[in-house]
Amino acid sequence: MKLYEQLCEELSSRIEQGYYQVGDKLPSIRAMSKEHEVSISTVQEAYQLLEANGLVQSKPKSGYYVLAASETPSLPDISRPVQRPLEVSQWELVLKLLCSHEREGLVALGKGMPDVSAATLKPLLKILSDLNRHSDLRSLSYDSLRGSDELRLQIARLSVDSGCRLHPDDIVVTTGCQEALSCSMRAVTEPGDVVAVDSPSFYGSMQTIKALGLKALEIPTHPETGISLEALEMALEQWPVKAIQVTPVCNNPLGYTMPDERKRRLLYLAQQNDIPIIEDDIYGDLAYHYPRPRTIKSFDDDGRVMLCSSVSKTLAPGLRVGWVAPGRYGEMLLHMKYVSTAASATLPQRAVAEFIAQGGYERHLRKMRAQYQQGRDRMLDWIRRYFPSSTRVSYPQGGFLLWVELPEGFDSVKLNDRLLQQEISIAPGVLFSASGKYRNCMRLNFTEVADSRIETAISIIGEQVKRLLVEESLVAS
Ligand SMILES: Cc1ncc(COP(=O)(O)O)c(C=O)c1O
Repeated sequence: MKLYEQLCEELSSRIEQGYYQVGDKLPSIRAMSKEHEVSISTVQEAYQLLEANGLVQSKPKSGYYVLAASETPSLPDISRPVQRPLEVSQWELVLKLLCSHEREGLVALGKGMPDVSAATLKPLLKILSDLNRHSDLRSLSYDSLRGSDELRLQIARLSVDSGCRLHPDDIVVTTGCQEALSCSMRAVTEPGDVVAVDSPSFYGSMQTIKALGLKALEIPTHPETGISLEALEMALEQWPVKAIQVTPVCNNPLGYTMPDERKRRLLYLAQQNDIPIIEDDIYGDLAYHYPRPRTIKSFDDDGRVMLCSSVSKTLAPGLRVGWVAPGRYGEMLLHMKYVSTAASATLPQRAVAEFIAQGGYERHLRKMRAQYQQGRDRMLDWIRRYFPSSTRVSYPQGGFLLWVELPEGFDSVKLNDRLLQQEISIAPGVLFSASGKYRNCMRLNFTEVADSRIETAISIIGEQVKRLLVEESLVAS
């Protein structure tokens, strides 16, 4: 432990023991340096670390004062992305993140992986192995281009929960939600077109924009109510936007659910400007409150919403079962699906259809919603405990991801590089922006909080965050 860390620890215990009370001024830096026979800069660093720990506050030209125990962290600010169409960058960092997950023994808090160890998934494994054992030739054949009839029937039934009335023929099965998103974007845009997106936004859809030669127009987004309709309206007046891509329910990474009124207004804006909406609902069924929130698609009366989803977050991503309800863009969508992967794999579709039909999907969701909500609360508590008081955190309404915001200038890419040396990873915020914004933010996964390694990992991340804040002089001195 470095000298300034030792001094910080000693002062922390003095504060805890009430030697210094809330509101008390700590001795001056000079007096403390004399008392402990250490240099002025050691005391300065110790005081900065105390401040990063949320125990004291510096007042300009006055000194350091003891603070009350910290309260619930505030929400992140409304985002302020660059508001003009941009080419998406950051692919190298996305690739690095995706590859790092494969490392043995890594506590991968940056990944978007659900908990697949629950007992409620066992019946699905049994269905898969039964299908394998008793497989007829049908399972070895191409399924229809639209996807299996049984699965589309089950998806249409489930969609009633989100306020939709879909017919199985309104649905096309895809290989995961990623394919649903990319086929949808390809169906309604041409290279060079502009797509408006909520920001921060899932890196998979951002990289699709890049790969298709499109430009992203990032719209300011509120951590509780979603994409700013006022900013979007102005952007639509200014730029030739060809599609709007949003994740309005249990958003990744911010966790909000847009109020219904705002979903309606977003649809109205799209109608006024005659633009399709590509709606990503992949986390929607993991909303903590039942009945689950409505989709924008459920208000769609002219077929302009392309609803994309999958079982990757609700059940397991390895199944690669997703779908899209493409509305009026069905023909073009089907063409894009054909040139993408033709039919999707047959066996997983049959297994998922059977699992839903048996009631296994609902049973599993009930368990996971409760588990993830508990996980959120526990993770927020740890962040309160181990992160500096200047930390802002999202308050997810569903799913299993948290968005953490640190002071402007903080470098979460550097943080991740350091953490990787300790076998921990996070998802740096830059991945969620076209232009490398949100470097001061990170996304954390809270699926496995019951594992004691997670609390230890969060305390290590908190320590490293505080160190970086001091090193980069981001704590007021
Ligand atoms: C918001 C969002 N959309 C789409 C996807 C891609 O989903 P899939 O694994 O089903 O292709 C993800 C996966 O992380 C996601 O978080």
